[in-house]
Amino acid sequence: MIKLPFDYQKKLADIKSSANHLTYQAKINQGSFYTPFELVNYVWEFITPFLTKNSVVLDTSAGKGSFFLNRKNNKLLLITADNDKLAVNYLKENFPYLSAVHKNALINPSRKEYEILDKQKLIIIGNPPYNDFTSLKSRKIKENSLNNLVIDPQIKSRDLGISFLRSYYQLKADYVCVLHPLSYLIKETNFNSLKEFKDNYKLLKSLVVDSKKFSDAKGASFPIAISLYKLDNKGMNYEYIRNFSFQLENGKQFLLSSFQFLTDLVNKYPKKTFSDEYLNNLFFSLFGISIQLCEIEHLFKNLTIIASQFIRIN
Ligand SMILES: C[S@@+](CC[C@H](N)C(=O)[O-])C[C@H]1O[C@@H](n2cnc3c(N)ncnc32)[C@H](O)[C@@H]1O
Repeated sequence: MIKLPFDYQKKLADIKSSANHLTYQAKINQGSFYTPFELVNYVWEFITPFLTKNSVVLDTSAGKGSFFLNRKNNKLLLITADNDKLAVNYLKENFPYLSAVHKNALINPSRKEYEILDKQKLIIIGNPPYNDFTSLKSRKIKENSLNNLVIDPQIKSRDLGISFLRSYYQLKADYVCVLHPLSYLIKETNFNSLKEFKDNYKLLKSLVVDSKKFSDAKGASFPIAISLYKLDNKGMNYEYIRNFSFQLENGKQFLLSSFQFLTDLVNKYPKKTFSDEYLNNLFFSLFGISIQLCEIEHLFKNLTIIASQFIRIN
């Protein structure tokens, strides 16, 4: 068994216990759920082929630095930022090889703010917070939150994580490798709200994992994508995502286009006139009942066919 140096063990224990300086409510408000190391390792694995001497690796929502633990590298410039002052103090005290900036990453997102030159190769990594401001639960959280977050109008979106992705384009990152809900890509309305991000980046790789891997995350699990993007002014459209091969940890892959979605078959609201196509008569609120009706109708149709054949034969 490999024995970790004492210093490393101490830091690991500190970070592993998550954002332990925050209450659970504050963690939700700020999206402060720290990333487990096995997922951090995937991110470094994905970006390693693109790292060159003097590349800048930046995490604009770094928390207590999970992404940089034991990543000292004299050939790279490692920069972190967070709007949580205590987390930034922790970074300054425990990571002498990092530069740490106390900043709201969604205000004036520019290279200048992090002292990065335009000519420097920039790779953004991390696990930005996500939080849908339009959902009832989030609205309540936001109302209770002491310091409502200010976001630049040019990147403002209903979801914090989507604003973060859009901020990466303002920084003209050459590569972006971050964790985000898979729904940002596969739900077409979310995908469209990525706006200039989707128009200027291309997805190169995406590994889908279960949110339950975050030890302090409560509630239902949902798929998280560890996605690697490359700056590309051709961007990507939804069709590109539909035909993209997403990876799973067990080595399997899946394509959205190979799934048949219920939303393509079932209407949200009932239609005024009844259609001959029985699937056209389905709608979500009566979905369960409709399924039963269909089955009965289907059974009835089959019985009629059998009966007519029987009559013909005889
Ligand atoms: C999901 S945690 C990730 C922390 C760390 N990168 C990790 O993976 O362990 C999100 C972090 O974003 C920070 N954060 C939230 N809103 C921010 C903002 N507007 N600007 C900068 N940091 C922000 C939170 O304080 C929190 O530390």
